[in-house]
Amino acid sequence: MLILFVLTLLACNKHSYGFGSDPKISCIESEKQALLKFKATLIDEADVLSSWGSEPDKTNCCKWWGVKCNNHTGHVTVLNLSKISPSFSLSGHVTVVSISSSLSGKISPSFLELQHLKYLDLSWNYFSGNFSPIPNHHLGNVSSLRYLSLRQNLGLSVGNLEWLSYFPLLRHLDLNSVDLSQATNWLELVSKNLPLLEHLDLSSCGLPNPVPHLNFSLSLITSVDLSENSLSSSIIIDAFGKMISLVHLNLYDNEFAGSIPKSFNNLSRLQSLNLMENSLTDQLDKFLDKLSGKSLQILNLEWNQLRGTLPDLTRFSSLRELHLPYNQLTGPFPTSLQLPNLGALNLRGNQISGMLPDLTVSHSLTFLDLGHNSLNGTIDKSVGQLSRLEYLDISSNSLEGVISEAHFSNLSSLKFLDFSFNSLVFNISSNWIPPFQLDVIRLASCKLGPDFPKWLRNQNNCSELDISGAGISDIVPNWFWDRPPNLVYLNLSYNQMKGLVPDFSVKFSDYPSIDLSSNRFEGQIPRLPSKVESLNLSKNLFLGSISLICAITDFALSYLDLSSNQLSGWIPDCWEHFQKLNIINLANNTLSGKLPSSLGSLSQLRALQLRDNNLSGELPESLKNCLELKILDLGGNRFTGNIQPWIGTHFTKLIILSLRSNNFYGDIPLGICQLNNTHILDFSQNDLSGMLPRCFGNFSAMIHRYDSMREAIDFVYMRGRQGDNSEGYIAAIYLANALVQWKGQEREFGKNLDLLKIIDLSSNKLSGEIPQEIASLAELVSLNLSTNNFTGKIVEDIGQMKNLESLDLSANRLFGQIPATLALLHFLNVLNLSNNNLSGKIPLSTQLQSFNPSAYSGNPQLCGDPLPNKCPGEEEGTKPPLIATGNEKKIQEEDGDKLITQAFYISMGVGFAFGFWAIFGPMLLSSISGYACFKFLDKLTDWLYVMASINLARLQRRLQS
Ligand SMILES: *[C@@H]1O[C@H](CO)[C@@H](O)[C@H](O)[C@H]1NC(C)=O
Ligand SMILES: *[C@@H]1O[C@H](CO)[C@@H](O)[C@H](O)[C@H]1NC(C)=O
Ligand SMILES: *[C@@H]1O[C@H](CO)[C@@H](O)[C@H](O)[C@H]1NC(C)=O
Ligand SMILES: *[C@@H]1O[C@H](CO)[C@@H](O)[C@H](O)[C@H]1NC(C)=O
Repeated sequence: MLILFVLTLLACNKHSYGFGSDPKISCIESEKQALLKFKATLIDEADVLSSWGSEPDKTNCCKWWGVKCNNHTGHVTVLNLSKISPSFSLSGHVTVVSISSSLSGKISPSFLELQHLKYLDLSWNYFSGNFSPIPNHHLGNVSSLRYLSLRQNLGLSVGNLEWLSYFPLLRHLDLNSVDLSQATNWLELVSKNLPLLEHLDLSSCGLPNPVPHLNFSLSLITSVDLSENSLSSSIIIDAFGKMISLVHLNLYDNEFAGSIPKSFNNLSRLQSLNLMENSLTDQLDKFLDKLSGKSLQILNLEWNQLRGTLPDLTRFSSLRELHLPYNQLTGPFPTSLQLPNLGALNLRGNQISGMLPDLTVSHSLTFLDLGHNSLNGTIDKSVGQLSRLEYLDISSNSLEGVISEAHFSNLSSLKFLDFSFNSLVFNISSNWIPPFQLDVIRLASCKLGPDFPKWLRNQNNCSELDISGAGISDIVPNWFWDRPPNLVYLNLSYNQMKGLVPDFSVKFSDYPSIDLSSNRFEGQIPRLPSKVESLNLSKNLFLGSISLICAITDFALSYLDLSSNQLSGWIPDCWEHFQKLNIINLANNTLSGKLPSSLGSLSQLRALQLRDNNLSGELPESLKNCLELKILDLGGNRFTGNIQPWIGTHFTKLIILSLRSNNFYGDIPLGICQLNNTHILDFSQNDLSGMLPRCFGNFSAMIHRYDSMREAIDFVYMRGRQGDNSEGYIAAIYLANALVQWKGQEREFGKNLDLLKIIDLSSNKLSGEIPQEIASLAELVSLNLSTNNFTGKIVEDIGQMKNLESLDLSANRLFGQIPATLALLHFLNVLNLSNNNLSGKIPLSTQLQSFNPSAYSGNPQLCGDPLPNKCPGEEEGTKPPLIATGNEKKIQEEDGDKLITQAFYISMGVGFAFGFWAIFGPMLLSSISGYACFKFLDKLTDWLYVMASINLARLQRRLQS
């Protein structure tokens, strides 16, 4: 599950084409006419080409916008109508600078009449139609064009590239994002027709694998970008081995599998190789053996399946960036890592073990990410000597020991620090002044306490601070709250911090995400900023009204969790403007009164958890507009009224519906049966009456097992923005949770909810027969219909419900025999049929006899093992042998492993265990090659979801502004 978006911008070397004409030069009339013809087919809504015209003041076309002429001959040599110009920031990031509005319309072939045109750049516009530049005969045979870019014209098609033969002088060809899916002979046409080509960019073109082609010569080519196609053919890979001048090769996001050929060894000038997101499975050392080492500066093999240990890299003496995250590397670091030029080392998400390497030789190192590996041992103080280091992430390893000031002594450039999820203990003196000013501090589960860390006092530029689970049991000092309002993300959760919290409305500025959960903060809910992205104050000692949430007036709030406090009063009626609100959890407080109708305006609401309060009244009709609801948990309140059919017909995405322990009455409406995604349907402890609809056998999610269910249950929501004013969003996963009656006890489930499929209608006044159709719910794990007025026989085919672990039909008026198929329920380990009018002999099976007799008690006419009363005709000591049901053998085999039922895997959820998160901001791919990437990831690892933080709309806005 990987969505990855890379925007690669090419810095074009425009200088060699003579930008800037001599103002004294005037243009040639026929060329001016050709340009006007060119303009005629364009749509220029923003009047970008206002300088182009036939009016007297516009006679010199050499002065027109985007046109350049030769200083001596006056011929038009350059036509540059690109909308953007890439600009490089000091850190090497590319920002796209829009220098004009977009043009659209058709590209007229009249530019071919500009016989001296060498440079044509039409990139980043909205040109459409077919670009088929076939010149007329009288113009001569070939174009003198050296540079052609049609980059990022999404509606443009260029046919099959036969036209390339008219441009034999091309050095630079950039057709990024132009559809070439029909051009099966692209490789042949390029190599046959463009002998002088140096730079080729056919990225994101939907390129097909080429047909085999032997006479391949692109010996001058230095730069090739074929990224974001679906290429897999070895024909292409082999071809690169022959491009002996190659300096930059970008094959990111294709489907190349296995390895690269030995011929890559010929590429002795190769400086950057990007094979990120392919399916390489080689041993890393074998892979590297196929590369000529000396010249290589950037190697990116991120997201492949490369195996083996990290070999000695000394041969790659020029290496500046090594990106190997998310492969399957194992074993320790090589004994020596002598890479004096190394600036970036990224090995995140492998299984590398052993000690941290000594990197002091690499004194240019600015970026080091070793997070999510299996590193152990202590951290040597020498890491503190990497004075250029800006980014240091060793999170989620098994590192241990004490961290002291010395570990940071020379890290004066550090901006990003992540030591989270190790076993590190900070022993830092209270008057330490760190040498750095951090943007991002992540020290989750590092032992920082019991005192609040005083060294944070001078970290005033920090935009992200996570010191959750840090063993801090202090009062949060005022200087902390009084810091400059730069924090965009604050996580103090899972400590024992105490005291009052101040007025937040002035302590934060830009859409903060605030998590103070699981502490001992007290007093009223603080005054809140008007803009908040996410707010979690759960599991504290807050009391009083929650009406202050109405002070949040901006629409951006996506997550609100105030559960498990002592909050009281009404739920305010101010929800209209929270258009992005995904999650409301107010459970386990003492809120009272009715649900306000403005909750119905929350069209994005996915979880509404209000259980265990004192809420009352009927559910507002407006609630039916919350079509995205997945969790509706209203249990443990005093809600009343009928269960409305719209709960079934409108909330088709509901996974958890709990109305337990309220005062709902009347029939269960047929509409409920449309809840085809529901895992938990809990109407227990109400006053419901009438018959159970036959359609109760229709709940699809209880009939089938869907692989994707886990993802459907835990949903990712945007928890806030990453610090450092970048484009990345922090995504978090909301782990759905439910409080259910499980095997006789109330339990809260979080993990494994996907396996938990429950119907609980116990303790109502339901009557009539249990519909036979219910037996088709083969995935149901627990069925509780106890304490109702059900009558008739137990469903004959109950043996079809083969995942049932818990069946409670007690305290009804069921009669007749226990169906023999009950013996087929291998997982059953809780059974209660007591207090009915069942009769006859309890069917024989290993399991049914193993239950406590109380499971059958209160049925006077029931007889046989394990009940004490024997059936008529059966005598003590002459038990008949077990009836062989065909499954008997299996049952006996499983008996020893009785515990290993699904229940074994349904471990208790760790409460509200949401908030697993990680963040992938733009990678710091610095640029030596004229390329740079903004990168946004959406990834899933075992316990960690990372949301594709690419907010396309945001990016587009940025590009357009
Ligand atoms: C042409 O003239 C302009 C302005 O005088 C100058 O900036 C530019 O470098 C010249 N170009 C060439 C190719 O001589
Ligand atoms: C680190 O882990 C390895 C096994 O991967 C083990 O042999 C070694 O003893 C561990 N070292 C420390 C210091 O725990
Ligand atoms: C409910 O909140 C109280 C504190 O107000 C807490 O002690 C208790 O554990 C919470 N219950 C649940 C089920 O979270
Ligand atoms: C549930 O029903 C909706 C609409 O009726 C349908 O789109 C969806 O595919 C169904 N889902 C399942 C799991 O059957």
